[in-house]
Amino acid sequence: MSNIQISGAPPVGLAGRNIIVGITGGIAAYKAPALVRALTSIGANVQVVMSASAHQFVTATTLQAVSGRPVRDDLWDEGAEAAMGHIELARWADAIMVAPATANFLAELAAGLAGDLLSTLCLATDAPILIAPAMNQAMWKHPATARNVATLINDGVGIIGPGEGAQACGDFGPGRMLEPDALVGALEKVFAPPILEGLRVMITAGPTREAIDPVRYISNHSSGKQGFAIAAAAARSGADVTLICGPTNLPTPQGCRRIDINSAQDLFDAVQADLPGQHIFIGVAAVADYRPLAAAEQKIKKQVRGSNTMTLELTENPDVIASVAQAANPPLVVGFAAETQNALPAAREKRLRKQLDAIVVNDVSQAGIGFNSDHNAATLIWDEGELALQLQSKDQLAQALLDQLVRIFVTRLALPNHASASI
Ligand code: C5P
Repeated sequence: MSNIQISGAPPVGLAGRNIIVGITGGIAAYKAPALVRALTSIGANVQVVMSASAHQFVTATTLQAVSGRPVRDDLWDEGAEAAMGHIELARWADAIMVAPATANFLAELAAGLAGDLLSTLCLATDAPILIAPAMNQAMWKHPATARNVATLINDGVGIIGPGEGAQACGDFGPGRMLEPDALVGALEKVFAPPILEGLRVMITAGPTREAIDPVRYISNHSSGKQGFAIAAAAARSGADVTLICGPTNLPTPQGCRRIDINSAQDLFDAVQADLPGQHIFIGVAAVADYRPLAAAEQKIKKQVRGSNTMTLELTENPDVIASVAQAANPPLVVGFAAETQNALPAAREKRLRKQLDAIVVNDVSQAGIGFNSDHNAATLIWDEGELALQLQSKDQLAQALLDQLVRIFVTRLALPNHASASI
């Protein structure tokens, strides 16, 4: 077990990226401050650019406060132009996201008009442009809008949404701007190299619940955060992700197919049902090793008289990950081990016993990492080496882990994007 290296924490996605958020005049502009806030909170540098009509819906003061920069809205503002001219601003941007984008703005951009600062920037930049349309459903369905959208797609502009549902005008249908989280996810995808493109990845996450009776269960402290972070990172990296998770309140990561389960047996069944065709299996779920031998059909009553102890007979659950590793045509199998003592030797033994290609071990007895925390530190163990992944956010650790797995197992995975790379 030589080859121990320390990995740095690579920037994930949008940290340090320069993003122009363009806002045009639609009611969905009320969501723009939340979008800007979400971007700055993950370390992006955001310059807000408003169209003239956007001012009818949201104030520049709010947007300046959440972005930390004065809003730009005028091609002819001498002061702002002197500080950073519009061509310079177009070059500064790593990406432009226009949210909300009105039908009028789509038409301007499709026609190549540059009548105001935002449309000029879109024409002058080499950076990717993402557009989040928001308009009345009839306007969205209009053939002129459909034509403009087709032109923009042909020009390489990313169209994000719109969603469908109740509209501010009282209509129901397509035309709702997607929520800020989804827009951030779309932007993150722009910067994530598609290292897993063409691969199907199955991830288990969260705790399981083993019923004692209709109201009680045995479970554990797993929050699901690390598994969800890995699912999000895999989807950003181009994988087709199936996320099978126990009870958690976490939102489904962008682009993942989610299957909710309760017990270890449910998890086993869901995994088996979807296993054929998966390329990578990452078992992050904290699966209960045992369940009550028989769940009582009715709520178990407290004993009023007699013994003050109670015995619960348990029986072993199926080992989900071991069954995947033993499948006829197994995917690359990566396990997780949360340990409280002798973490490394225990994980090495577990990897061999369960016939896993790799295992990620973390010492959950250390404060500030593991269960429920937003941070984690771990060691990746495989046949030929071990790699310490230093303390970092669970999102960063997820990306670092996937990067390493691709590096280590590139030949095994026959990745289209890495066909000629070596380990
Ligand atoms: O034995 P232990 O529970 O520590 O093993 C941890 C690894 O095994 C994790 O990847 C976990 O998801 C998986 N596991 C499983 N089915 C079980 C128990 C654990 O897939 N019944």
